[in-house]
Amino acid sequence: MDSKINSETIVAHYSSKQSTITIGHGIFNFLVCLLPYSKWDVIGAIISDRVYLLHRQTIDDSLQEINACIKGYDDTEYNKSYAYAENYFNYLLHNQFSRKSLLIGIGGGVTTDFTGYLASSYMRGIDVVYVPTTLLAMVDASIGGKVAVNIEAGKNIIGHFHQPDYIIVDTGFLTTLPVEEWQCGMSEAIKHAIIGDSSSLNLFLKREVSIGNVNESLYHCVKNSVCFKANIVEQDEFEKNIRSILNYGHTVGHAIESVFHYTLSHGEAVAVGMLVESYISMKMGMPQEDFELIKELLLYYKLLPNISFSTSDIIDHMQYDKKNIKGTILFVLLEKLGKPVIGKEVPGTLITEALNYYLTMV
Ligand SMILES: NC(=O)c1ccc[n+]([C@@H]2O[C@H](COP(=O)([O-])OP(=O)(O)OC[C@H]3O[C@@H](n4cnc5c(N)ncnc54)[C@H](O)[C@@H]3O)[C@@H](O)[C@H]2O)c1
Repeated sequence: MDSKINSETIVAHYSSKQSTITIGHGIFNFLVCLLPYSKWDVIGAIISDRVYLLHRQTIDDSLQEINACIKGYDDTEYNKSYAYAENYFNYLLHNQFSRKSLLIGIGGGVTTDFTGYLASSYMRGIDVVYVPTTLLAMVDASIGGKVAVNIEAGKNIIGHFHQPDYIIVDTGFLTTLPVEEWQCGMSEAIKHAIIGDSSSLNLFLKREVSIGNVNESLYHCVKNSVCFKANIVEQDEFEKNIRSILNYGHTVGHAIESVFHYTLSHGEAVAVGMLVESYISMKMGMPQEDFELIKELLLYYKLLPNISFSTSDIIDHMQYDKKNIKGTILFVLLEKLGKPVIGKEVPGTLITEALNYYLTMV
């Protein structure tokens, strides 16, 4: 990537604590300079097995410098579980991790969520650092302090708010990311752009960001997206109001994921959700040109899957969304591009019309 790019550091001031986020290309090599490593008595890194295989030399070199021990993690959604965590708690105890120790999670959102959950629970909470290695984990999962694991009854049911002390966003890791994982991250970055990250929206509209291309525009897009989410979380860390705007596309998206038994990627499901919820927004007053622009973006980045579903199945699943209040389906809608509104009720007939629109469009 362009050698002009160094790194930038942002300090997010949340109500519970502050998080220092450094973004750059190749910065993981300088981990020893980025972390005050001598303040922790034991440092352990939980590393996605796949990421370790692909980036072993870099990871070993940097972790050796801060004297961190390594524990591998088979980062499937199945293993992001309450049951699987117990082995890791035992590992921490056997290796003398104390309340003054640090865990570093290196991998995608599954790994950062899992490591965050371990850190938030072990001895009532220890420090944690994230090194996100997927686009989705960089712009979304690693930011904001939500940590969770799955139980048989559902995804992300057991968890806490536990902010990472440091986040090292090194776009160098993206050079090995498969296309489908780029699409998942792109979907969330585009979501941020639509609901208010106007700098990234410009980059997307000019088609300066493309899948698989780790260039300067991508760096700026990641930085903008991280800043956008961190800023929202600074205003409402515990999701009492404004943080809910980040759920744009997710009311329909979660139902789609569930109806398709998680065979679609989260990014695809959220993209369907964004299209359907933007259609509803247009019918409830958003300018049509904004809708056309959102549709064009989602089509350009090939985020909309060619799927077929029963609209009533989707609506049934939406009733069970954990964000609903007393069974009322609530949406994040757009008054216009960059202006989301939360907690909107939508007539059932309009939800059906919007879902049918999707079916005829793809
Ligand atoms: N905490 C939050 O606020 C939040 C927000 C969004 C999503 N999430 C969670 O994030 C998870 C999804 O995260 P994800 O999309 O990053 O998926 P993931 O962690 O499963 O990673 C996707 C795949 O990419 C591989 N991978 C990771 N980095 C790589 C790299 N640099 N090169 C090659 N392969 C690489 C992984 O091994 C995995 O196979 C879900 O569990 C979701 O619930 C959490």
